[in-house]
Amino acid sequence: MNDNKKPLYFITGNDHKFDEVYKSFREENINFDLLQSKIETLEIQANTIKEVAEFKIKSVKEIFKDSYFVEDAGFFVEDPLNGFPGVYSSYAFKTIGNDGILKMIDDYQSPRARFEAIIALYYKPTNSIHYFRGEVKGSVSKLKRGTAGFGFDPIFIPDEIPNKTFSELSTKEKNQISHRGRALAKLIEFLRTQV
Ligand code: IMP
Repeated sequence: MNDNKKPLYFITGNDHKFDEVYKSFREENINFDLLQSKIETLEIQANTIKEVAEFKIKSVKEIFKDSYFVEDAGFFVEDPLNGFPGVYSSYAFKTIGNDGILKMIDDYQSPRARFEAIIALYYKPTNSIHYFRGEVKGSVSKLKRGTAGFGFDPIFIPDEIPNKTFSELSTKEKNQISHRGRALAKLIEFLRTQV
């Protein structure tokens, strides 16, 4: 850790997420050192991703003396699944996985989907919580494609790069357009204004 920089913890047990966020941070000249914490947070089932993130961030506020953040995401198949799996993304991924989602969509002509991410930051200097949202819209591939990334990446095709799934992009390419990358850009902007 660089001594001049302040520690900033990203609480996540997902090493893929940490890797994406770490790579974005590295390219930014900001006065924070990003560290991973795998501490358990309370995960509730709620109607919105923001509520899940809010509960998580508040559940560990006595533990950290430095600033920290959590991130929650969801995959919403707007058409034809009316937003499913959305807030149930984690459970849907563990149970039916990408194959199950593709089966539900079946031969539907032009399925539409989006990812949404909320970053919740507990900023210690002011003891305040801040939220940063990111979204990416796209379609669902007929088949799983690519080897990079995680979760629903092999079946999501972003509108910005319509010939590739997220799993066919490098981390840098994904970060430039992804829900998490967009939420992160807002977090970094906020952090810049604080020092
Ligand atoms: P969570 O934010 O870790 O709870 O994510 C919910 C579900 O969405 C998990 O099954 C993740 O694998 C999946 N997910 C979250 N972010 C991404 C992403 O960037 N690409 C693909 N799947 C994701």
